Amino acid sequence: MTQKTQFIKDLKDKDSVASSFLIKFSAIATGKSGKPYMNLILMDKTGEMEARIWEDVNRFVGQAVRDTFVWIEGRCQLFQNRRQVVVNRLQVLREDEVDAKLYIPEGTLDPETLYVKLLSYVSSMSDPHYRALAEAVLKDDPEVVEKIKRAPAAKSMHHAYKTGLLEHVVSITGILDALSQHYGKYLDRDLLFLGGFFHDIGKLWELSYDRVTDYTMEGRLIGHLVMGSELMDKKIRELESIPGRLPTPFSDEKRLLVKHLILSHHGELEYGSPKRPKCLEALIVHYIDDLDSKVNAIRCFIEQDSTPGRWTGLNKSYGRFFFKPDWALKPEPEGP
Ligand SMILES: [Fe+2]
Ligand SMILES: [Fe+2]
Repeated sequence: MTQKTQFIKDLKDKDSVASSFLIKFSAIATGKSGKPYMNLILMDKTGEMEARIWEDVNRFVGQAVRDTFVWIEGRCQLFQNRRQVVVNRLQVLREDEVDAKLYIPEGTLDPETLYVKLLSYVSSMSDPHYRALAEAVLKDDPEVVEKIKRAPAAKSMHHAYKTGLLEHVVSITGILDALSQHYGKYLDRDLLFLGGFFHDIGKLWELSYDRVTDYTMEGRLIGHLVMGSELMDKKIRELESIPGRLPTPFSDEKRLLVKHLILSHHGELEYGSPKRPKCLEALIVHYIDDLDSKVNAIRCFIEQDSTPGRWTGLNKSYGRFFFKPDWALKPEPEGP
């Protein structure tokens, strides 16, 4: 087993690098002089970092490819204020030479605890049809149960780490629970919950996440909104085929409302929703989804920022600098 001796978050300007990493991205580019060089993004569970191979590039083509574990030797330096590793030596490692979990970012919350919380929301539902649908997917489908404990919610942007999707779903459902109490009789709590549970359920198959997160063929061609909506049709048909599982067949109205919450959750046509939210529950699921993903994205950005002082570097997605509260301040390095 190759020991992982250095982690990306700890590397500083002028550090010698000798450690294993996972390649997240790899491409050949051409320098100003016309000489080819290799552009890599290395990752481990603590973050990611660019790397360059300047010499003997052709030797590494076909070796330094995405999803490969590699041993890297080189030097960390600052380039345009960002850390970058200049690679002197690269060697491909076999999967059995590394402890794969050291290379995949993880959230801080335990998947089993989150899953228990999710099931407690399911068991608090009162509508027999909506509850049966939630159970059929989240409790009785072994593929969903396995995948939901490890899937990220996205490739980048928000909850982009192991179990990120479940963290996002449980967080949203908690907010929806509070809103259903706040607005009382004007909202259907069970329908809201299905929106929380299922709005992104298609991501379990839209993304591949055994190592580096990427889109699957189905994800690229169909996308998680339509995939989630199709899953609802399939599960409702299955429930109706089990004698005695439902008190009455699933009504068209309920089936269409559940699918609508999934299909409209991106809010606008230009964000990939074929329909804009057309009931209060759909509108709320859309806004809370947007809120929860932004809170997570900005929190993670502040946590990972290494700019000294009380302000982060520029966040390109949001076009602004963020103030660093006390919880985000790193302890000062000790003097000589
Ligand atoms: Fe989504
Ligand atoms: Fe979402």
